[in-house]
Amino acid sequence: MAAAAATAFVALAAAFSAALLLPWAVVEAAVGVNWGTVSAHRMPPPVVVDLLRANGIAKVKLFDADVAVLRALAGSGVEVMVGVRNEALAGIAASRAAADAWVAQNVSRYVAARGGVDIRYIAVGNEPFLTSYQGQFQSYVLPAVTNIQQSLVKANLASYIKIVVPCNADAYQSASIPSQGVFRSDLTQIMTQLAAFLSTTGAPFMVNIYPFISLYQSSDFPQDYAFFDGSSHPVVDGPNVYYNAFDGNFDTLVSALSKIGYGQLPIAIGEVGWPTEGATIANLATARAFNQGLISHVLSNKGTPLRPGVPPVDVYLFSLLDEEQKSILPGNFERHWGLFSFDGQTKYPLNLGLGSSVLKNARDVPYLPPRWCVVNPGQNLVNVGNHLKLACTMADCTTLYYGGLCNAIGDKGNISYAFNIYYQLQKQDAKSCDFDGLGMITYLDPSIGQCRFLVGIDDGRMLAVSSSDRPASPLSRGLWMLTVWVLLWFTNVGSF
Ligand SMILES: *[C@@H]1O[C@H](CO)[C@@H](O)[C@H](O)[C@H]1NC(C)=O
Ligand SMILES: *[C@@H]1O[C@H](CO)[C@@H](O)[C@H](O)[C@H]1NC(C)=O
Repeated sequence: MAAAAATAFVALAAAFSAALLLPWAVVEAAVGVNWGTVSAHRMPPPVVVDLLRANGIAKVKLFDADVAVLRALAGSGVEVMVGVRNEALAGIAASRAAADAWVAQNVSRYVAARGGVDIRYIAVGNEPFLTSYQGQFQSYVLPAVTNIQQSLVKANLASYIKIVVPCNADAYQSASIPSQGVFRSDLTQIMTQLAAFLSTTGAPFMVNIYPFISLYQSSDFPQDYAFFDGSSHPVVDGPNVYYNAFDGNFDTLVSALSKIGYGQLPIAIGEVGWPTEGATIANLATARAFNQGLISHVLSNKGTPLRPGVPPVDVYLFSLLDEEQKSILPGNFERHWGLFSFDGQTKYPLNLGLGSSVLKNARDVPYLPPRWCVVNPGQNLVNVGNHLKLACTMADCTTLYYGGLCNAIGDKGNISYAFNIYYQLQKQDAKSCDFDGLGMITYLDPSIGQCRFLVGIDDGRMLAVSSSDRPASPLSRGLWMLTVWVLLWFTNVGSF
């Protein structure tokens, strides 16, 4: 009798939860991180993997399939998403053999090895539908997805490894309220086919959501709506009220998916985060408030008005580390998204919900020797301008500008900062601290308060040049050529 009643209850409860939650019945969000490598001060990948593990971070999203990074992840137990670069989409879309080769070289051999890499996802393209790409990758996405999927099937990996396409949030829009969300009209057909593919393979729709960018770009955007502490400007959408931009954006996507017939598709967040420098609204306090608010919100499993009780399947924070060679066309903040600085040092306390209430620093970072390049106080500085310009074109001086932690260190401080950052970029080559006799090497840390004069990392390479996770725009390519030209010119006239 009791058993029958219990059975009936379980059946009822199951029916009830199925009705409420299908098809996500047991979804719980997990927090992972994006690991980008657009930096000239790269820590050895094993040090980064230790950092992930020390902080309990069990999921990582990569933008490519770097050999050293994947080797370091082998046997770590960390779940990995590898990425097909946008530039590779055309070739893979056009050729099954190219897709086979990509999967063989960048997936199979790592998965197969004993104590291998736990690759769970392949991101095909990175924000390939971004409006600023003017459609150049758009037609390749689905054929590339299809070809990679066939290669996975052939390699017997299709049941374990899922394909996703990380989309930018400008793939959909709404005139005002989330329920009016629709995909961009040029994407309706592609998104319908993509959603059909994802739903057959059981993969989530992946989107990058940036309330920071909304706030940065629009002076009308209510600041408190970007965060998670409630808003004095909630968005009222029929019976639903939105108190934060993240939920509003998420449900705009849910509405867009509903309109193409896939309102039930699980959603994962490929990138979300807040930078610590490089804009007035980017600082340690706002970054902490946003990221902590986001994590608590997601881990509460509260969901959104259109998906109550159903958080995103995964959330990948952007980003693990600062990357000081990223393009600053969008703004100086681009180089300061890290939860950690370039060398794995925590910037602010954060509870990732993974067991510890603060983040732990990287250990055994192989720094260059503790020495710095600063301006020689005895020198006349009238001719320092060109040196400063060159140093700051090559190295990252964004912290000296408004909204940076080193913005208030004065003219001499600025010059020393620039000299040092260039000297460290050149791996402390003594000649790179000359600056026509204006520079000098010091063994006393010149850091001023929160403004850190960094010491580079000994990665065993001269002048690391790493590729960017977004294609260089013609403008930044032009700047690079100009830099090379200026450098050659300086070399020729013997003043550098
Ligand atoms: C594997 O990925 C890397 C970069 O992520 C790429 O350069 C390489 O071409 C890929 N291999 C193949 C066979 O496509
Ligand atoms: C240098 O210092 C001044 C203040 O002394 C500041 O206004 C300026 O933005 C700083 N940064 C650079 C790159 O010149």
